[in-house]
Amino acid sequence: MENGFDSEHHHQLVCKRIGMLVTIKLLESLQNDFRVLVIGAGGLGCELLKDLALSGFGLIHVIDMDTIDVSNLNRQFLFRIQDVGKPKAEVAAARVMQRVKGVTVVPHFCRIEEKDVSFYQDFQIIVLGLDSIEARSYINSVVCGFLVYEEDGSPDMTTIKPLVDGGTEGFRGHARVIYPGLTPCFHCSLWLFPPQVTFPLCTLAETPRSPAHCIEYAHLIQWGQERQGETFDADNPEHMKWIYDQALKRGAQFNISGITYSLTQGVVKNIVPAIASTNAIVAATCALEILKIATMFSTGMDVYMQYTGTEGIYMRTVPHDKDPNCTMCSAGVPVDVDNTITLQKFIDQLLKDSRFKLKLSKPSVSYHGTNLYMQAPPVLEEMTRPNLQLPLLGLMDGNTSGVLNINDRRLTGVLRVRVTFKEGPDSVDMDTVGGV
Ligand SMILES: *[C@@H]1O[C@H](CO)[C@@H](O)[C@H](O)[C@H]1NC(C)=O
Ligand SMILES: *[C@@H]1O[C@H](CO)[C@@H](O)[C@H](O)[C@H]1NC(C)=O
Ligand SMILES: *[C@@H]1O[C@H](CO)[C@@H](O)[C@H](O)[C@H]1NC(C)=O
Ligand SMILES: [Zn+2]
Repeated sequence: MENGFDSEHHHQLVCKRIGMLVTIKLLESLQNDFRVLVIGAGGLGCELLKDLALSGFGLIHVIDMDTIDVSNLNRQFLFRIQDVGKPKAEVAAARVMQRVKGVTVVPHFCRIEEKDVSFYQDFQIIVLGLDSIEARSYINSVVCGFLVYEEDGSPDMTTIKPLVDGGTEGFRGHARVIYPGLTPCFHCSLWLFPPQVTFPLCTLAETPRSPAHCIEYAHLIQWGQERQGETFDADNPEHMKWIYDQALKRGAQFNISGITYSLTQGVVKNIVPAIASTNAIVAATCALEILKIATMFSTGMDVYMQYTGTEGIYMRTVPHDKDPNCTMCSAGVPVDVDNTITLQKFIDQLLKDSRFKLKLSKPSVSYHGTNLYMQAPPVLEEMTRPNLQLPLLGLMDGNTSGVLNINDRRLTGVLRVRVTFKEGPDSVDMDTVGGV
């Protein structure tokens, strides 16, 4: 009996020790091996930096181009009144290091586009605390640009850079994890960001039903009628007051109450008030996902978490599908071409394609590591120029389908195009198409 108890006790002790060792090892790895980049040092960014530092991450970089405004102070809790006017990234970094022992936070006070792509390559995980679709889209294109596909069309796992994205708007928020090539990228689900709410003008003019309708009527219709020739300036308090007064009158006329000056500002400037608790919940969700990615102690979320705090609290995760034809993350965007097409005509076709034309200016083309046409440097351009007049099918060894890599200075990464040859009006005899 005594022996049994002893061995049981001993067993428990050993388990406890192993558990502690594992924990210590994990912590050491978080402190020493991980480089996390936080993009944005605003409402979400402050929360993220605090959460990550307290979770044990030892090296965090933060990038933000903004300076601190007095209106940030109610929720961006790393900032004080004396910090107003200073760069957010720098103040946030300094304050987190003051409060959390052993963490290094490196600030970058600049635009995200100012950094070289290799800067982003250096981090194992990137987390977004942004409020702009353009900025998200840019970082998404950067991480998708790192992605390389194997011959068999599966992503090369070592090139996958996980991206964690958080976003809030008033009482609503989301968090999601993007493994480019494996899970839907930002571009795959652009439909999640509907165009901004606009009201039909007839509603505004005839049947206003809400305070916002009255404000938009004053803003979009009355201003132009009654203050002709004056450009409305949302930052001019007199202009804003005028809109507010007109909206109040209109509200009185239609029995609509609830029109306030701050609501007027919000509607006109399209501002949704930022809510500190939404930021905290979304940032915590992101930080937990980052911890999962770093330690692999649990599987990640699948794949998009929605949070709504308008009436009670509602949270759920929904799986989304990858767009198999995504221009950012797919193994190849399908492009059908005539089987007589020359490389030059193919490039012309790409430049006309609505999916790419805004992204391309002077595309270079390669196939299986061979440069078919290079726009630069001049010596390579000259060497590859004769290929422009050759049939693409021949340049691709007579393969009737294949992935071409397109490079362009407008692209942050490579564009993969899956070409399929179709019989055209004056198609060639396949046997005469030799390799070059
Ligand atoms: C507004 O309310 C008053 C009193 O409740 C009513 O007499 C009036 O008809 C209403 N006006 C409109 C436009 O609904
Ligand atoms: C992807 O492209 C292929 C070929 O153009 C098309 O048949 C398919 O419907 C597309 N899939 C989606 C989900 O758009
Ligand atoms: C043609 O396609 C096959 C199969 O995908 C591939 O092994 C071969 O390398 C391709 N030809 C060239 C010139 O790349
Ligand atoms: Zn995608």
